[in-house]
Amino acid sequence: MSLDLPAVRERFPALALPHDDRPRVYLDNPAGTQVPTVVLDRVRAAMVECNANMHGNFRTSQRATELSQQAHEVMADFYNAASPGEIVFGQNMTTLTFQMTRVLAPLFREGDEMITTHMEHDGNNTPWRRMAAERRMVVRTLPFDRDTYEFDLADLDALINERTRFAALNFASNLLGTINPIKDMCRRLRAAGAITYVDAVQYAPHGPIDVQDLGCDLLVSSAYKWYGPHQGVLWGREELLQSLAAYKLSVVADQCPDKFETGTQSLEGQAGVIGAVEYLQWLGRSYGGDGGPDAGGSPLPPRTREVHAALGAMADYEQALSERLVAGLQAIDGVRVHGITDRAAFTRRVPTVSFTRRGLDPADLATWLGDRGVYVWNGHSYALPVVQFLGLADAGGVVRVGPTHYNTLAEIDAAVELIDEYCRAH
Ligand SMILES: Cc1ncc(COP(=O)(O)O)c(C=O)c1O
Repeated sequence: MSLDLPAVRERFPALALPHDDRPRVYLDNPAGTQVPTVVLDRVRAAMVECNANMHGNFRTSQRATELSQQAHEVMADFYNAASPGEIVFGQNMTTLTFQMTRVLAPLFREGDEMITTHMEHDGNNTPWRRMAAERRMVVRTLPFDRDTYEFDLADLDALINERTRFAALNFASNLLGTINPIKDMCRRLRAAGAITYVDAVQYAPHGPIDVQDLGCDLLVSSAYKWYGPHQGVLWGREELLQSLAAYKLSVVADQCPDKFETGTQSLEGQAGVIGAVEYLQWLGRSYGGDGGPDAGGSPLPPRTREVHAALGAMADYEQALSERLVAGLQAIDGVRVHGITDRAAFTRRVPTVSFTRRGLDPADLATWLGDRGVYVWNGHSYALPVVQFLGLADAGGVVRVGPTHYNTLAEIDAAVELIDEYCRAH
């Protein structure tokens, strides 16, 4: 069943805010999405009813402990993890990733090799390069094809050898929109004995994740990119997490996930994550199919099924948004889209579309659009490795237009029309 856009949009109060006398057109979703009312309700309820530290012997504290347990269970289903103990909450993806560099670093020694890619957001780049420098590891970087904007897995095979110990991989690019073949990549890397760390920040808002099927070792996303609050959520394979020595206080139990959740956590954030997943469940029940095939023969939990059904329905609709956006931009004289433009390959992209035009300053255009209520991003969007690899760093990067399932085709048309008007005048 196709999405009922008015019913979807009604759930997001921010979508009704005006920009002066116009509507606001949120096309900055890769930088962060708006949130549905259920998230606001969950955050509010947590701050009223559960506002105490966990593990105390009184009701508010007991409610706080239960809330956190529930948030771990919900996220275990979101990722289809084997258990809630595999879920680690943290401030955001970047902080969790730096934290993981501290606990993984002792596993590596001089001459060990690490693989990363030219498609990374810097959050999955700098932390690992710093770890590699400390441990005197060799870093090998997987290129992507500058015409297709995809990896060639033969290039990955060529980088893997008997010294490969670790790989940091991007699931979907926050600049190009490419979805990478993570399952195949992890299979190759694990066969070589490497630990794989997947940055799913841009994939999670657009596609279902099943960590048991993917075969990675660690995976991370940020709930504020998928309709929730500012919370990072990491999944790790239980045996691996158990075996790692956490940077933890001596008073904290040496068990998962407690040993990685350092200091007082944002319980209101975890409550909001529950709300975001509830929103996806509603979407899945209302407009989704059956949630797709079960991985490895074992049935998916009901909540996982609903979330996967939601993401499937969203992906179908978002493909229509991508097609309209890419076609509209390509019709503008001199515009070059940096990402997959072949319709037959649109299942391998999220709707994030970046473009440049000779002589056009991305910041000027983004400001001009922003003044007219159309919110897009410009520059490198922290995907510095990507803009450097494309040779666009000195030209101000790109203009990034990032719709999601609550955007309408009319909003895409309005944005394209304005971009066309600007390009004709400059
Ligand atoms: C692909 C990707 N990875 C990592 C990050 C960093 O996430 P966080 O803001 O949660 O640290 C982002 C943020 O935009 C991203 O798009």
